[in-house]
Amino acid sequence: VTVKPFDYVIFGATGDLTMRKLLPGFYYRMLEGQVPEEARIIGTARSPLTREAYQGRALEALKKFVKKEDFDDAKIQRFLKLVHYVSLDGSKPESDWNSLRALVSEDRADRVRVFYFATAPNLYGAIAKNLHDKKLAVGDARVVLEKPIGVDLATANDINDSVGQYFKEENIFRIDHYLGKETVQGVIALRFSNPMFEAVWSSDHIESVQITAAETVGVEGRAAYYDESGALRDMIQNHLLQVLALIGMEKPASMAADDVRDAKVAVLQGLKPFNSQTVASHAVRGQYVAGKMGSENVPGYLEELGKESQTETYVALCAEIDSPRWKNVPFFIRTAKRLEQKVSEVVITFKPTESRLFPTEAKRNVLAIRVQPDEGISWTFNAKNPVHDDFSLGQATMRVDFAQTFQTRYPDAYERLMLDAVRGDPILFIRRDEVEAAWTWLAPLMKAWADRKTPMAHYKAGSWGPDEARDMLKRHHAKWHEDM
Ligand code: BG6
Repeated sequence: VTVKPFDYVIFGATGDLTMRKLLPGFYYRMLEGQVPEEARIIGTARSPLTREAYQGRALEALKKFVKKEDFDDAKIQRFLKLVHYVSLDGSKPESDWNSLRALVSEDRADRVRVFYFATAPNLYGAIAKNLHDKKLAVGDARVVLEKPIGVDLATANDINDSVGQYFKEENIFRIDHYLGKETVQGVIALRFSNPMFEAVWSSDHIESVQITAAETVGVEGRAAYYDESGALRDMIQNHLLQVLALIGMEKPASMAADDVRDAKVAVLQGLKPFNSQTVASHAVRGQYVAGKMGSENVPGYLEELGKESQTETYVALCAEIDSPRWKNVPFFIRTAKRLEQKVSEVVITFKPTESRLFPTEAKRNVLAIRVQPDEGISWTFNAKNPVHDDFSLGQATMRVDFAQTFQTRYPDAYERLMLDAVRGDPILFIRRDEVEAAWTWLAPLMKAWADRKTPMAHYKAGSWGPDEARDMLKRHHAKWHEDM
């Protein structure tokens, strides 16, 4: 859907996110005909750059992050014409706000104004205030907040309160790029448009759910941020809990944004709180030590960091949703850097059938929803094994590759979300109460870890994580997907 002409002002425009995701994302949307020619993408950051110098950086980013086959010189030039730059410290009232105002002042009433905060989150409040005081946050100007929203409930509330003073909740778009992933959105379609899945989606049939976001990369030059954050705050609080909410939610009353968000927040608020015992038995944190990624030797986290640290690069949790639908169903969620393989997926294991009809045991059905890469679904089930003359069973797997099925490109998650903010469609953004519920649930765990109440496990770079995480599943008679 084409959007109205817009001014998209990015704070933190020289940063990694802007270069890696936002600018290439806009370029791809322009190729799809979704970015009007009058649109302006205005980078702001403290660096004293000219517009030409910033366009030069943008070009470098596009060379690096746009696929060769999509890189077209004429189109790139057309795109760069949309790119502007203002050297500005968004947190300082005395900074050069006049230049920004001069650039965006326009008489056209249908121009949409979006401010994207890709800076350190503790600056969000100050930037919002300045936008208000400098009369830039006019009409229904929108603000997009990058994660993490704070480092705990109190800091999240501070950010939400201070931004909320100047922008209405309906104009605040808290981005979680996992919701921009096609296959994550696909969970809603899969669950509620197929009787076969809708009918079995509860503890009557589901034994356990596991949600994984495994990465092969280490901390990639982001050590300063990452060491402050750790895997729990970087990935679990937002991305993985959002996926869990979509898997666990009741059927929303409609596909209106607030109906879907009501359904999600109910899951997050219904997570069973950790207690002094479960912070140990239902959570594993770990750090990678030196190991091998394929044939390459890579250093451990502490060596990369060059100092001592209690920050986790691996987290596995066992969560439970306190609702009749999910009675006694463990949700295992895990994420880590430097695992053997990059994969994000949801794996649902069904209870074994009671039937004693067959000479061999019926194995558990497994539904795997592959979020990335190779987006698709696989369904492993029992079939009569034709090798035998009796009714022995064998396991068979059906696989669907979405890219092949729908003959389409899978856009990067940011592409859609950036323009949803222009359209004013909040369905794939996080509402304030969701942020609060997620931090509230994690608080006892963060406290136990900060107080060093539970040990740090270790795992070799290039492995599937620490033994402790395997043991946690064993206690629930379950296995991680790679061990099934
Ligand atoms: C970001 C985290 O939100 O998500 C990164 O800050 C992480 O640490 C990234 O690498 C993973 O995203 P994706 O889309 O590659 O799974």
